[in-house]
Amino acid sequence: MHGKAALTSKIAVVGAGEVGSAIAYSLILNPIAGDILLIDPKTEVRDAQAQDLSDATYHGNTSTRVRAAEHKEAGQCDIIVMTAGAAQKKGESRTDLIGRNLKILSKAIEDAKPIHEDAILLLVANPVDVLTYFAQKFSGLPKAQVFGSGTFLDSARLRGILAQRSGVAASSIDAYVLGEHGDSQLVAWSHASIGGVPLDQVFTEKEIDKKAIADETKQKAAAISESKGATSYGIGGVAASICKSILFDQRNIRPVSHWQEDLGLCLSMPAVIGREGIVRSIPVNLNDEERKNLEGSANNLKEVIQEAEK
Ligand code: LAC
Repeated sequence: MHGKAALTSKIAVVGAGEVGSAIAYSLILNPIAGDILLIDPKTEVRDAQAQDLSDATYHGNTSTRVRAAEHKEAGQCDIIVMTAGAAQKKGESRTDLIGRNLKILSKAIEDAKPIHEDAILLLVANPVDVLTYFAQKFSGLPKAQVFGSGTFLDSARLRGILAQRSGVAASSIDAYVLGEHGDSQLVAWSHASIGGVPLDQVFTEKEIDKKAIADETKQKAAAISESKGATSYGIGGVAASICKSILFDQRNIRPVSHWQEDLGLCLSMPAVIGREGIVRSIPVNLNDEERKNLEGSANNLKEVIQEAEK
């Protein structure tokens, strides 16, 4: 039933750059929605991307349609994916982008209004945790309907690296990166498991060097961007997967950036995702060191928010 509903659904992708078009491409291939609306004030690029993406739909394996659209139409879509914003230059952290990307976000949300009361706003642009916090304010939607891709991508990277080191399929590994999608992120090692068995019971410290693996995970986006200028396919796949969880009401548990009542901001913790957005946040009983790192991550984000609010 939900599948049928999903294929009559509309997803707006705001920002037709590398990331926006990779998300649209992933949405087409799955296929996840009936219509993809591509939105960007740079109309020439937007139109060219929409035409190129449309060409990827005509071979017969997808019923998804792609077209260029205006910001106003985004407000009436089932999901609005916000990718618009500047990308990091070499040596910049994700939080360095706040000044530029907050203005872009604020305008994009204003231009999309009125926003449908059931719409889900999915933040992808960086710094994603801070932008999610502001998008909740700007949009006026219930907080559960506004969340960010967060550390879902970092967690996928972590599972990929663990799979390589352990010789076990990534899908059989449960391991989360939590906190900021950025430099202060942490791995919840105390909850990592493989086939349901705690990781530490299966592998020795020598086999799984936790610090090296956490560092490699954290650095992966920068390592990719160094050579190709940006990341796109990883986030494309992750964002499309979140859209599928929403439209098909799948109730998957994903580490995404969402409102944390105790902290007064947004960062990634595991959450159940469905048609209403964040159906439920899953509290994680972190050990002392991890808890300290999470608080550090929250403090970093708080500083960026306070600075942006000035
Ligand atoms: C990355 C970007 C999306 O981690 O922040 O690839």
